[in-house]
Amino acid sequence: MPIVTIESVGKYDGQEVTLRGWLYNLREAGKLLFPIFRDGTGTIQGVVSLKDQPAAFETLRGLTQESSVIVTGKIHADKRAPGGYELQITAIEVVQRVPDDSPYPIQLKEHGVDFLLDHRHLWIRTPRQAAILRIRAQAVRAAHEYMDSEGYILTEAPIFTPAACEGTTTLFEVQYIDDEKAYLTQSGQLYVEATAMALGKVYTFGPTFRAEKSKTRRHLTEFWMLEPEAAFAHLEDMMALGEGLVSHVVQSVLKNRVRELETIGRDTSKLANVKTPFPRITYDEAIQILQQRGNPAKWGDDFGGDEETILSSSYDRPVMVHRYPAAIKAFYMQPDPVRPDLALGFDMLAPEGYGEIIGGGERVADYDLLLKRLRENNLPEQAFSWYLDLRKYGGVPHAGFGLGLERTVAWICGTEHIREVIPFPRMIYRVYP
Ligand code: 4AD
Ligand code: MG
Repeated sequence: MPIVTIESVGKYDGQEVTLRGWLYNLREAGKLLFPIFRDGTGTIQGVVSLKDQPAAFETLRGLTQESSVIVTGKIHADKRAPGGYELQITAIEVVQRVPDDSPYPIQLKEHGVDFLLDHRHLWIRTPRQAAILRIRAQAVRAAHEYMDSEGYILTEAPIFTPAACEGTTTLFEVQYIDDEKAYLTQSGQLYVEATAMALGKVYTFGPTFRAEKSKTRRHLTEFWMLEPEAAFAHLEDMMALGEGLVSHVVQSVLKNRVRELETIGRDTSKLANVKTPFPRITYDEAIQILQQRGNPAKWGDDFGGDEETILSSSYDRPVMVHRYPAAIKAFYMQPDPVRPDLALGFDMLAPEGYGEIIGGGERVADYDLLLKRLRENNLPEQAFSWYLDLRKYGGVPHAGFGLGLERTVAWICGTEHIREVIPFPRMIYRVYP
């Protein structure tokens, strides 16, 4: 008997196959049993009757939810069945029976979110959560594909770092060896600036950490960021790379994760138009738009969730806002030569209120200016001396950005909260399980 996955059963219509997985649900109707099995690739409804298959019927009757099974049966196309196919069971073997006196904690009913988060190690088995994680994996694959096709070389940035990249208020300090202190990285940027000078066009993709004290649906304390960096690149180049990357990721998920998007009930018409070019507006224009919509923002303010939602609401694809006031951006941002009070940086804001998914721009290339910036920001010169070296030994204009993976996947999936799109979310007040 061929051992197959549920996602591939369509290829075996009319044939007998073996599936391996778990009992997701069991409906008993007299002499008929209707189990639903899941195997990680999807779910399928089975049917078995006492009359035709007494042994399988008896094994299955009363079987506890999430017991692991190996089940054999004939695949039968049936339009009424969820997924379009049904399994006519001929044999079933129980690998491990969930004890009757200790039932699976997640029942097929509504549970509170704290309960689900406490059981995240089990919650990820539910079809919706599994579908989201499959979409996330596709987004990651598509992102690597795109970076590779654009000639970017993957280089890793360290996680233990000697200094802050994105401000000192969200640093996680760790006790390193002996008395030395280290910090968990907030961004791989400073290190990809170094590898870009070695390799030309590079990116890193890894976990980053922020001690975010805010409890919002957009913030994790541990999240994944994809960060490209290119020597001799400018702001415009990075906006073009960012829109190309995001549209490729979205289109790849739409093409390769149709069933998963359906499982989670995502309105995919909202994603179909996510194709290049994306609109670009300046910070000055953004302020005007906000004021016209009655938002109290004034020039010089940074944008929060409300402002981002207003700005993105006019577009059917992400919008890029560029040239923010230098004063509200990080120390490493290159000033605009035409208006030095502006930074050559940009943010990409996702539609439907998902907010900023990309932040980036051109970096300060000049040694003296960078030193001045470090001092203005009270950053420890010693810890940044290697970073200053990059401006001493063949400094060039260069630019890059960081794409937040979870923000991007939350938007693609349309989830209410970012915590659903990472297997084990780390948030203020949660490091379990
Ligand atoms: O805008 P940010 O802070 O930019 C940087 O870290 C740059 N050093 C990146 C670079 O230029 N190489 O963060 C980049 C993105 C944000 O746009 C957002 O998508 C995501 O990272 N992000 C978070 N995602 C989840 N939880 C948080 N606490 C996040 N903070 C930032
Ligand atoms: Mg940002």
